Parts: sequence; structure tokens; C-alpha cells
Amino acid sequence: MKRILTGDRPTGPLHLGHFVGSLQNRVELQNDYDTYILIADVQALTDNFEKPEKVRDNVLQVLQDNIAVGLDPEKVTFILQSAIPQTAELTVFLANLISVNKLGHNPTVKTEMKQKGFEDSVPLGFFMYPVSQAADIAIYDANLVPVGEDQLPHIEVARQLVRKFNGIYGQTLVEPEAKVGSVSRLVGLDNNAKMSKSLNNAIYLNESSESLKQKVMSMYTDPNRVRATDPGKVEGNPVFIYHDIFNKNKAEVEDLKERYIKGRVGDVEVKQKLLASLEELMEPISSRRQKYSDQTVLTEILHEGTKKAYATAEGVIDRVKDAMKLLRL
Ligand code: TRP
Repeated sequence: MKRILTGDRPTGPLHLGHFVGSLQNRVELQNDYDTYILIADVQALTDNFEKPEKVRDNVLQVLQDNIAVGLDPEKVTFILQSAIPQTAELTVFLANLISVNKLGHNPTVKTEMKQKGFEDSVPLGFFMYPVSQAADIAIYDANLVPVGEDQLPHIEVARQLVRKFNGIYGQTLVEPEAKVGSVSRLVGLDNNAKMSKSLNNAIYLNESSESLKQKVMSMYTDPNRVRATDPGKVEGNPVFIYHDIFNKNKAEVEDLKERYIKGRVGDVEVKQKLLASLEELMEPISSRRQKYSDQTVLTEILHEGTKKAYATAEGVIDRVKDAMKLLRL
């Protein structure tokens, strides 16, 4: 069976952007692929090295979020990234095969560097995290990587590194492919292009119903529309973008759009109907969350998965070292 490897940084609970970009895809693919999901605590430290407790505290949270959306812990292998030293070894070997200059052109890293104020002085670990992400994928012989659009430059780096490695040392590593979700990027509540924790414009998968309501009702809409009787704009309006994605009742969405354009519906009704769709989406997620809330059970799931992944990684690193003609003692 072909293998999937994907993962999340444990820096906070996962949000709807993760859901449409990657989680939904994982759930759909879990029966057809041997699915490995990484809790990427080492990568999370690359920009949170001064906040180790934040990373530690979110490991089980992110695991629980994955299970809550419908990933089956009986089928899926959940891995604690820091417990797989072979990834660090492969990272060092792969780092020889890409230039600093090329890494500096990665658009996602560039955007993140701006956001984090790393422009003048970027930590080396952060700068080269795409190399360690390539190792994350290659160390398990993964074929497919379901991710959001922002991750595509990283998967491209991984593909190039694998080709370069195989070109020099002989066919050893598997070249992965990316698979982007139905909605590769979700606009934020504030109309920022991307929903993200650091931009404080996210709806989390563990949002309380009170807070969900408060967030939806205060969402950004058409700024030029002052009264419900003013004709409104639907295109590029985040409330309608969300309706298109999350409201299953397409007739209702069409009706709302028509009335909005003509100035025959208030923002409150449009938002209340969106809220109802989101509540419907969240309901099964929150009941599965309750079912998997025992920290001991979650830790055991992670432990079992990590043990299995370790064995896979050991096989691959052996192959890598043989291919690289390293003396084996
Ligand atoms: N970079 C991903 C994120 O920010 C997390 C991640 C780490 C990952 N290693 C990975 C994703 C390997 C896919 C494959 O969400």
C-alpha cells in the first residue's frame, strides 16, 4: 500500500484552515493509504525555541484534533517527530544537497520570516526547516503528502532533494508528491488571505459554541454596506466564501447571495445561517473529541505509532547509509 506522510506543528489547536486544507483530505485517504501523521514538535521549536512548554502542551491537543475530525487511531500511525532521531540524521545528509541561496528563495519561509521578525537575523534551524521537512517525508518512504497550498514549496524542495540524493548515491529514496485539499487556503475571519493562529483570525476545531457564535457574528463582510437595504458584494466577501465552503444547502446560499446583492437581507441573517452550518460541522468533531479526551489513551496512541514509525525509519536510514558508502561498524 502506498504511504501518506503529513503533519502539523503543535503550537496551538488546529483550525478550520487546517481542516479544509489538509485534515479533510487525510480523512478521505486513510482507507486507501498507509497513513503516517507527524506531530512536528521539532519543527515547532524552530520558531518557538524559547517557548518549549507551549510546544509540549500542544502535542496531545493536535493529536486529539486529528482524531476528532475522523482519523482512526486503529488505522493511522501517529508519530512524535522528536522521538525519531533518524530524521535528524537524514536532515544533515540532505543539507549537503541544497544551497543557502536556493533555500532563501522559498516563498513560504520568506513570508514566515517577515511575520516573525526574522528578516535581519534568521535562526539557522528555522531557515533550513524545509530540509528537515524533506527528511520527515523521505525517512518513511512516503509517496503522498496531503497539505495546504502554502506547503507546496516545501514539497518541491523535498522532491528536488530526493532526486539529487538518488542521482548521486543511486536509487534510494522515494520521490513524494503533494496533494492539495479542496480549498487549499482559507481566508481569515478578518479577510486576511490566510487563516492563521498568529494573525488571530481563526476558528479553532475546539472552539466553544459561545466563542464560535461570537466570532461568526463579528466576521468581516462588505465594508461598503452600511444598511441591510444597501446592495452588497458577494465576491471576495469572507462570509460568502465560508457559505460556499461550509453550507451544504446550496439553494439557501444562492438565495442569500441574490438577496444580498439586491439589499434584501441583513448581515445578521447571513451570519446566523453560516453559524448553523458551522455548528453542524463541529458537532460530530466535538463528540469525537470527548470520546478521545483521556490523556493516557492519547499518549498510548502516540507511543504505539511512534514505535512503528521508528522501525520504518531505521530501515530507511540503513539504506541511506549503505548508499552513501558510510563505513558500518
Ligand atoms: N510544515 C507543516 C506545517 O506547518 C508541518 C509539517 C512538518 C509537515 N513536517 C511535515 C507537513 C511533513 C507535511 C509533511 O503545518
